[in-house]
Amino acid sequence: MASVLELAGVSVRRSTKLLLDQVDWTVEEGQRWVVMGPNGAGKTTLLQIAAGALHPTVGSVQILGELLGAVDLAELRQSIGWASGSLAGSLPPRESVRDAVLTGAWGVTGRWREAYEQRDLARTERLLGDWGLAALAGRTFGTLSEGERKRVLIARSLMVDPELLLLDEPAAGLDLGGREALLGALGRLARDPLAPTTIMVTHHVEEIPEGFTHALLLRDGRVTGCGPMREVMTDALVGETFGVDVGLSQSGGRWLARGRVPTSDAGSDVRG
Ligand SMILES: Nc1ncnc2c1ncn2[C@@H]1O[C@H](COP(=O)(O)OP(=O)(O)OP(=O)(O)O)[C@@H](O)[C@H]1O
Ligand SMILES: [Mg+2]
Repeated sequence: MASVLELAGVSVRRSTKLLLDQVDWTVEEGQRWVVMGPNGAGKTTLLQIAAGALHPTVGSVQILGELLGAVDLAELRQSIGWASGSLAGSLPPRESVRDAVLTGAWGVTGRWREAYEQRDLARTERLLGDWGLAALAGRTFGTLSEGERKRVLIARSLMVDPELLLLDEPAAGLDLGGREALLGALGRLARDPLAPTTIMVTHHVEEIPEGFTHALLLRDGRVTGCGPMREVMTDALVGETFGVDVGLSQSGGRWLARGRVPTSDAGSDVRG
């Protein structure tokens, strides 16, 4: 199996702060990874590295077999789909949903004079259908609900037919129905052998879609767990990562966590 991503000794420093600290990580083709950790742990920074959008301060990064620093980034990014909340802010609110997905083919926001091929148009319609957006295709992006926007961003990220798909907190801010619909769609994607290698960031074990195979846990820029889901998703490792005593369980292919904060707040149950 070919490595899709290979990080060796990767650190990212900003002034005196280490955002990532000596991260080693290998992602193989076909794997579906979840990256978990508390606020500020370095998850988004790690995705930026994986997308080739950020160079490490030290360490080496190989993406799709290409060494970062010795590769045409524009070409590499054509093979990477990336959906994040910050991108939602850069999509023009008056862009139609159809165009918000279509313009992902060029990695631009706001349709201008790009020449789209028939296959781009056909792919847009297929993705709109796959992600439950067909009825919304004529609406403007700015009028969508949070859950609908998340689906648009994922459909858009798949326009380039990526080999690597990066999703930064795709389920954040969704209500129960919206979350379950999204996780169902991500679960179907995870089980599709033709779907790209996928890395998804989340804070919540309940948001890990069925079919995800591996987990990387981060705390203060350091890896606290990395490997197959069953080896990493233990009470000890997840508890250490989030700084809570946690009890994990599984039901129907999904994970549940129940935690108790070991501080002066002790006694108050938290759901993680
Ligand atoms: N330019 C910068 N200078 C200093 N610190 C920075 C800079 N950019 C990011 N940070 C800090 O790096 C840490 C990691 O940020 P990152 O966005 O990767 O965290 P995260 O795990 O994605 O957090 P969240 O769960 O809140 O999205 C944060 O504490 C953030 O404040
Ligand atoms: Mg983040």
